[in-house]
Amino acid sequence: MAWKATGPLQACKLLLVILSLPQGRTSSVLTVNGRTENYVLDTPTDVQASLECAVLNNTSDEELLWYREDGRVDLKTGNKINTSSVCVSPISKEDNGVRFTCKLQSRQEVSVSVVLNVTFPPALDGNGFQTVEENSHVNLVCNVNSNPPAQMTWYKDNSTLILEKDRHQIQETRESFQLSITKVKKSDNGTYTCFASSSLKTETLDFHLVVTDKVPALPVEAIIAACVVVLLTLAFGLLARRKRIMKLCMKKNAQDTETAL
Ligand SMILES: *[C@@H]1O[C@H](CO)[C@@H](O)[C@H](O)[C@H]1NC(C)=O
Ligand SMILES: *[C@@H]1O[C@H](CO)[C@@H](O)[C@H](O)[C@H]1NC(C)=O
Ligand SMILES: *[C@@H]1O[C@H](CO)[C@@H](O)[C@H](O)[C@H]1NC(C)=O
Ligand SMILES: *[C@@H]1O[C@H](CO)[C@@H](O)[C@H](O)[C@H]1NC(C)=O
Ligand SMILES: *[C@@H]1O[C@H](CO)[C@@H](O)[C@H](O)[C@H]1NC(C)=O
Ligand SMILES: *[C@@H]1O[C@H](CO)[C@@H](O)[C@H](O)[C@H]1NC(C)=O
Repeated sequence: MAWKATGPLQACKLLLVILSLPQGRTSSVLTVNGRTENYVLDTPTDVQASLECAVLNNTSDEELLWYREDGRVDLKTGNKINTSSVCVSPISKEDNGVRFTCKLQSRQEVSVSVVLNVTFPPALDGNGFQTVEENSHVNLVCNVNSNPPAQMTWYKDNSTLILEKDRHQIQETRESFQLSITKVKKSDNGTYTCFASSSLKTETLDFHLVVTDKVPALPVEAIIAACVVVLLTLAFGLLARRKRIMKLCMKKNAQDTETAL
């Protein structure tokens, strides 16, 4: 029954939303490349994208503004009244996700935005040669830049990598595809291939992993343990002796008091 209490308030809010909607609609008097609504423009790299903004129902001179994200685009005179074009040339990967907005100078809430969806094939990079000691830990990090995102797979010596649950771990983000191997074995030695497949292209990058014998390192733990034992022995020795020394002193004191009497 709790909904009844909030009911009228919700209804009021809805009414307000409905009342404010048509006003928002009538103010769409701009078009960008013929479209009145915000949209996403799919484009490859290295081409030119031109965006033309126009006033739909022009009764007088209307000045137009262009923004790239939040920054005003400098427009030449003659490219501001009634219609205005901006050109992105050439399109680069860095333009992906960038928003261009055309606004009416007189009523800046009137606007149409275009977000660039720059598509490009997967580009991979990473540390292609790694040497690791047996029994230690290694990360093979394949950095990937692709739009749309690529399907990623690891291969070892040209066949699908068989993952060992307790030793292999794969982590995937938008920017990287990582293979972690713990307790590295001699049999882990070999060439690992990072394989990226998108609708545009497939791309591969080889990672050569050389597993070396475990170098017998200084047994640090053992040294520390030995030191602790020696120190404790010394400490206990001193403690025991101190007791004896104290006893002697006390005896001496007792004798002293006796003789004093
Ligand atoms: C422009 O035309 C649209 C319909 O095409 C209309 O809804 C809107 O009110 C007009 N705007 C102006 C400023 O005349
Ligand atoms: C802009 O449009 C208005 C209305 O149609 C027109 O009077 C004016 O001459 C146009 N200005 C330019 C620079 O085209
Ligand atoms: C409005 O302006 C555009 C661009 O300047 C022009 O092509 C069009 O003819 C104009 N429309 C009217 C009705 O004046
Ligand atoms: C960008 O374009 C690609 C290829 O057309 C498509 O798969 C992807 O969904 C688009 N991304 C967005 C955010 O629209
Ligand atoms: C993997 O395949 C490539 C190309 O077919 C070949 O040159 C390479 O020797 C192969 N590597 C292994 C470890 O089989
Ligand atoms: C270890 O892997 C590297 C890189 O793939 C390869 O060049 C080398 O021959 C391998 N060594 C052994 C002993 O398999």
